[in-house]
Amino acid sequence: MSDYRRITIAQAGSHTGESVEIAGWLYNLRKSGKIIFPLIRDGSGIMQCVGLKSSLSEECFEALKNLTQESSVIIRGKCRAEQRAPGGFEMDIESAEIVQRVPEETPYPITPKDHGIEFLFDHRHLHLRSRRQHAILKIRHEIIKAIRDYFDSNGFTLVDCPIFTPAACEGTTTLFEVDYFEDEKVYLTQSGQLYNEATAMAFGKTYCFGPTFRAEKSKTRRHLTEFWMVEPEMAFATLDDVKQHAEELICFIVGRVLDNRKTELGALERDISKLEAIKTPFPRISYDEAVEILRRKGSEIVWGGDFGGTDETLLSEEFDRPVMVDKYPTQVKAFYFQPDEQRPEVALGVDVIASEGYGEVIGGGQRIHDYNLLLQRIQEHNLPPEAFQWYLDLRRFGSVPHAGFGMGVERTVAWLCGLEHIRETIAFPRMLYRTRP
Ligand code: 4AD
Ligand code: MG
Repeated sequence: MSDYRRITIAQAGSHTGESVEIAGWLYNLRKSGKIIFPLIRDGSGIMQCVGLKSSLSEECFEALKNLTQESSVIIRGKCRAEQRAPGGFEMDIESAEIVQRVPEETPYPITPKDHGIEFLFDHRHLHLRSRRQHAILKIRHEIIKAIRDYFDSNGFTLVDCPIFTPAACEGTTTLFEVDYFEDEKVYLTQSGQLYNEATAMAFGKTYCFGPTFRAEKSKTRRHLTEFWMVEPEMAFATLDDVKQHAEELICFIVGRVLDNRKTELGALERDISKLEAIKTPFPRISYDEAVEILRRKGSEIVWGGDFGGTDETLLSEEFDRPVMVDKYPTQVKAFYFQPDEQRPEVALGVDVIASEGYGEVIGGGQRIHDYNLLLQRIQEHNLPPEAFQWYLDLRRFGSVPHAGFGMGVERTVAWLCGLEHIRETIAFPRMLYRTRP
């Protein structure tokens, strides 16, 4: 064993001048005769190391000098502050141990040259090591942590929902069917909402957070077939409560990312001023007003239709922060939406449309709490009443006005990171034409 203490690159600042070792992979290597500069990444950061021929054994110097990209190594030496270095520290190498050398004959496939998107996603298991993907997934983690902290500190209980479900929540056209046992068919969940409505009646305020599935046949930059959604649900709550939590949640997340992930935002060259503009209150407009704005801007939308991706982008151009659009026509919304008492043709639902053209990040609203109306809607939507008996029970036993929403994690990550396409926001994306690796 060595007397070198193992540290991560991120910890280098608190160990300057000490004998330490880092364990990682060769990211890049510069060399000129008697000096080599291996750039090592260890998952926590990237550090430039400096190896002098004069202060290393011949064997060690040669091994490092000929090291191949992504070979795994342990490097020992002393760290010092170096303002010009990435990360702010450098290590003067005293010795090294090669853990596995990538053979020359089968070099690491992802080189600093430009590769096509399909190539990179075919090699996603390796692509994740690149600086940009690393920054995105660090921000994703920060966002998920912020979401949990927000709900945990606002009195919500986490009660997760099943993934195998007997019925549709968000329309029957995007269901993935699974063969269960003995001829039984189940579906992969589209949303935990219906179950959340049950847990909210037990706990008051709940949320679920997990993967959800949509058989989206469209190939867009905003849709995955498997995505993560956080869904809060509140008993004795209305559309206004949804709006308030939706905007507070978004601002809380943005604040955390700005506080803790400046380095990663920098690596992505994100325009931070756009994120700093995301402050409460968000503008609130009705579907009617949104249609007016869109028609003025040249959209073909007519009252009664749902917004397409282009419409959402056009709408977001009008505001420097997210906009909340409420009271959509009942016909474009799911069966469970509570109708407006004064105007039953519109639903008490709201969509939060992100700024800068990132589209809908949150959808939610108030649920029908009247038994007869709910039964009627289930029938109108041709949903199998047997599968909804338990859901109807919630309207038989102490029904109350209640409301909630769902926020897509990947849409949020794409927005805050400023990404062109949603595929980069999750480690292993699942899309219409991608189920591998
Ligand atoms: O608007 P959606 O379909 O709402 C629901 O599922 C409700 N049951 C949620 C609730 O009220 N509990 O989806 C909610 C959010 C969207 O705003 C979007 O951010 C995300 O989920 N989303 C998708 N993200 C990636 N790929 C897809 N195919 C998505 N579909 C929805
Ligand atoms: Mg929606």
